[in-house]
Parts: sequence; structure tokens; C-alpha cells
Amino acid sequence: MRFDIISVLPDLLTSPFAHSILQRAQKKGVAEIVVHNLRDYATNKQKSVDDYPYGGGSGMIMSVEPFALCIEKLQNERTYDEIIFMTPDGETLNQGIANQLSIQKNIIILCGHYKGIDQRIRDIYVTREISIGDYVLSGGELPAAVVVDTVVRLVPGVLNDETSALSDSFQGDLLDAPLYTRPAEWRGHKVPDVLLSGHEAKINEWRHDEAVKRTQERRPDLLK
Ligand code: ADE
Repeated sequence: MRFDIISVLPDLLTSPFAHSILQRAQKKGVAEIVVHNLRDYATNKQKSVDDYPYGGGSGMIMSVEPFALCIEKLQNERTYDEIIFMTPDGETLNQGIANQLSIQKNIIILCGHYKGIDQRIRDIYVTREISIGDYVLSGGELPAAVVVDTVVRLVPGVLNDETSALSDSFQGDLLDAPLYTRPAEWRGHKVPDVLLSGHEAKINEWRHDEAVKRTQERRPDLLK
């Protein structure tokens, strides 16, 4: 799958995709993540990509033309399944949305800045608006990185252990059970005996019970 991310701060998006699972996905050719500098599509001498708001008010608004030129250039090269705008006004990202996006082939993500973007970009090009939560960040780059990370790790072939994305918290409506690794005892704190028992059925039962308990305590809304 391919992501094209359009941003005025492309440098912000180099590091998140250059490590670990996202780096491996790109090396394997399972995911391609391309960042475009919106300023390359500015049409005026000053290379500005924003302007004052009609009707007055504070803050600058990102102009329609640079986004339009970049989107249309990409659309001439391939067909896109979604054009996503990252905004706190959007639907809140969850595992279900990540699952839907993970079966798409080509996705554009627009990162906003300043006070926002010209509504005509949203009306004409954007197919989906996504928020990563009820708080405001200074731009759409970090939210875009969150979307790409949560989606790419679901693409078959990205994780080594094919089943491990399926057993994540949220994938099955339950949070994860507590996890332990060596040593079996650390400063007097012991790993639960059942995990050392080698008894697979009992371990699975314990994990399921703990997952239900944790979900009831922390996220009872997930059990409804
Ligand atoms: N841009 C600024 N805040 C955001 C948020 N919470 N989600 C998505 N994009 C944003």
C-alpha cells in the first residue's frame, strides 16, 4: 500500500517512518510512504501557502491552489482510494478505521497548519476527515504519522508473527492481559505461577480472564 502525505513541514515526517516496523515494511516493499513538500506547489514568488481569512479574524488559512496542484499531480499518476484530512473536527481514529484503511491501496493524507485550510479543499478533494483525539496539536503531521503507523502494521507481511496484530488490545474488543518476561522473580515480585506452568489451556484461560478483568476495570465501554 502507498501513502502520500502532503505537508509544509516534511522534515517532521522523516524520522517516524525510518525505524522499526515502518522501516521494515518499506524495505520489504509492502508499504511505500512518500512525503511531499506543499511549498513546492506554491504558485507565487514568495512561495506562500497561506493567506488571510475572508471575513476577518485571527490566524492564516492554507490556500486551495497548492493543495489542489499537488493532489491533482498525484491523481494523474495513480488512483486514490481515500484523501484524508487530519483535523480535530474529524471522526475519532479507532481500530475499526485502521482496519478499513489497511485494505486500501493508495491513500493521500493532507496535514493542516495555522488556523486551518480553505473549506473548498475539504469539499472538493477530501473523502474522509480523521482526528486522533479530543485535543489540538499544532499541525497534522504527528496525527498523520499516527494513522500511518496504526494502518501499516496491519498490512499482511509487515509483522513477523502474522497473528500478533490480531491479538492486540482493541482488535478483539478486549485489552491485553498483563505480560511478563524473564526473570521469573525480580526484587521479590514474581511472575504468576500459571505462566510458568507450561499448561497451555490454563495459560489461555488465565489470559482471557485477566483481559476481561482489565477491560471491565479500565474500559467497560468496550464490553457493551
Ligand atoms: N490537527 C490538530 N489537532 C489534531 C487532532 N487532534 N487530530 C488530527 N489532526 C489534528
